[in-house]
Amino acid sequence: MTGVSVKRIALFGATGTAGRGAFRALKVAGYDVTCIGRRDAQIIADVTQPLEIAEKFDVVVSCLASRSGSTDDAWAIDHLAHLNILAWAEDTGVGQFILLSAICVQKPKLPFQQAKLAFEAALTQSTLTYSIVRPTAFFKSLSGQIDRVRRRKPFLVFGDGTLTACKPISDDDLGRFIAQCVDDLTLHNQVLPIGGPGDAITPLDQAAALSAFLGQPIRIKRVPVAMMRIIYHGLRIAGFVSSKAAAKADLARIGHYYATESMLVWDGARYDADVTPSTGTETLFDYYAQVIADDTSVQRGDHSVF
Ligand SMILES: NC(=O)c1ccc[n+]([C@@H]2O[C@H](COP(=O)([O-])OP(=O)(O)OC[C@H]3O[C@@H](n4cnc5c(N)ncnc54)[C@H](OP(=O)(O)O)[C@@H]3O)[C@@H](O)[C@H]2O)c1
Repeated sequence: MTGVSVKRIALFGATGTAGRGAFRALKVAGYDVTCIGRRDAQIIADVTQPLEIAEKFDVVVSCLASRSGSTDDAWAIDHLAHLNILAWAEDTGVGQFILLSAICVQKPKLPFQQAKLAFEAALTQSTLTYSIVRPTAFFKSLSGQIDRVRRRKPFLVFGDGTLTACKPISDDDLGRFIAQCVDDLTLHNQVLPIGGPGDAITPLDQAAALSAFLGQPIRIKRVPVAMMRIIYHGLRIAGFVSSKAAAKADLARIGHYYATESMLVWDGARYDADVTPSTGTETLFDYYAQVIADDTSVQRGDHSVF
């Protein structure tokens, strides 16, 4: 970048899983990155309020997201906080906005998906150049059962274990794709579904890989999808009198969605792995092998339901 001024990037959500990957990749690419957040950031700011940040930036990258996915938090963070960031970006002359969204918004059934879509619409109608990155499943979301099967408990699948599939993407491959959006003109003013390398993977494929890496057979326990629906409706009714039950109902609804919908491009009639773009080199199964070899646990955070 000698002789060219280095682009100044304002990064929101840098303390999250995807945000950490984006931070690493933006730094490696040579950008001047400033993290803005409520903690562990160069600029501490409350994104739920109109932003008053005097510093000037060329690009906003947002990996900000509701940690719980609950209805109120999703609208507060995935929608309203992003509107605050967008208004500040427009006021201060930021030219470009790269938004981390999610592939599941293509078939929106959950409040957090509606909130994300509402902000995506506002961004596309703004004056800024935008890239809306909609990744498939993250590795952490597909690693929740490693500890179970290590303890010789069965691997849980919904239906027969092949109801859904995804092309998992690593934090660093996603980070590099986000960083690529800064200067790759073909990624500007685009909505970009993106998966990791290789073929689509079902839950049964995950169990088979874990069995091979652990060197032990894994029992598969099939959970009927109808059971998830019954649990959700029970909690929803209990939620009329208990806010705890209402919060659990939200989680059960999210769980049901991910038990039945694939994280692949939806063509209007079916999920299609072949038209789901791939990027990067890091595979979920290499990651499993590493976690098992190192005997470590995966930190999954509040999004553990998906
Ligand atoms: N998990 C998956 O498989 C998957 C797949 C595709 C897409 N996605 C999408 O990717 C996005 C990022 O996911 P992630 O797992 O990286 O998220 P995450 O680890 O939960 O990180 C969320 C980030 O948002 C910040 N944040 C949340 N609430 C905030 C608040 N009230 N004020 C200030 N900052 C706040 C967090 O900051 P603090 O550290 O201060 O809380 C953190 O930096 C989400 O939109 C998700 O839907 C996820």
